[in-house]
Amino acid sequence: MNLTNLRKDFPILNEKVNNKPLVYLDNAATTQKPLCVIEAMSNYYLHLNSNVHRGVHTLSQQATTEFEHVRKSVQTFLNSKEQEEIIFTRGTTESINLVASSFSEAFIKEGDEIIVSELEHHSNIVPWQIIAQRKKAILRVIPFNDNGELDLNVYKTLLNEKTKIVSVAHVSNALGTVNPIKEIITLAHNKNIPVLIDGAQGVPHYKIDVQDLDCDFYCFSGHKLYAPMGVGIVYGKRKFLEAMPPYHGGGEMIKEVRFSGTTFNEIPYKFEAGTPSVADVLGLKAAIDYVNSIGFETIQKHEDELMQYTTKKLLEVGDITIYGNAKQKAGSLSFNLNGVHPFDVGTLLDQLGIAIRTGHHCAQPVMQHYDIVGTARVSFAIYTTKEEIDYFIESLKRVKQILL
Ligand code: ALA
Repeated sequence: MNLTNLRKDFPILNEKVNNKPLVYLDNAATTQKPLCVIEAMSNYYLHLNSNVHRGVHTLSQQATTEFEHVRKSVQTFLNSKEQEEIIFTRGTTESINLVASSFSEAFIKEGDEIIVSELEHHSNIVPWQIIAQRKKAILRVIPFNDNGELDLNVYKTLLNEKTKIVSVAHVSNALGTVNPIKEIITLAHNKNIPVLIDGAQGVPHYKIDVQDLDCDFYCFSGHKLYAPMGVGIVYGKRKFLEAMPPYHGGGEMIKEVRFSGTTFNEIPYKFEAGTPSVADVLGLKAAIDYVNSIGFETIQKHEDELMQYTTKKLLEVGDITIYGNAKQKAGSLSFNLNGVHPFDVGTLLDQLGIAIRTGHHCAQPVMQHYDIVGTARVSFAIYTTKEEIDYFIESLKRVKQILL
């Protein structure tokens, strides 16, 4: 992969931060956007801006056509059977809330059980806690070992006839663990239990084939995939989406509104109330095209090399604890300089132009597992270079000298 050429696609990488060239290692929080994505959005506002699905006038028709092309593009990207199984949301958080709320209305009653894992992002815990409380259902948790790997033996014992859904991350945002989702799905399906995969941290790194995975729901955000903020996806199997009631009420999701009773639109529109973020959706298509033009084989190879290289170099710094040593990791690497608060590490690195995330990463149960307040986390993207990692490591050595 020619990184020099590729980096030119991302104008922000030329920025200086604190008078130093930006070294952006916070890609699990959000990725930077290539020019083609920015242009797709501005092109919409410059030439096409109008509401979708609502007008007979030409602009509205064109915008609608472009908008629906994106649905097709996401269908191909995820290899879902039908494009009606693709729902636009604002991001993974809204996607999981949509499924939790709507699925539970159709399928969860008092005494039922929901399974999540100990290494989930709060977005895949709290919606289910709210549902559990509302429905008087019980939340069960798959624990992980100190390497950051889920304990599948415990998982097997949690699955029972009361379990109504399993909801787990593809990749942990805090530890980088890649979960064995195919096995998790098969084990649940053996007992006829559907599975939601939180793909926020999976989609940027792996080619997803929802038919091959056979997951029942797969949720992700555009903005971690080089697309704009404000657009996300729920993939759901038709049989579930059709059985689930609407999530939000409003425009577009109805068939007929009467005060005597309202009927609802077909999927996917049943779940798409209100004006969508059309420019962001068009940006998502540009991002998918961009990622496809590089290819996931190339992306994975590059990011795997970075993960191995950074892990080795970090350990050489000394006085470092790495959190999460799963056999398969992607995207994120969490660590602490022993005895030092991660905020201090992050603040000093920022002075040197390096952006990393510090804190609990919206995964407080993970921090509780290790009995720590937080970690420093570096996360990679297709434009991350070894030279940037070298600069980060040299800077960390300076930070260590200052703080230890
Ligand atoms: N979930 C994002 C992260 O891990 C924001 O940083």
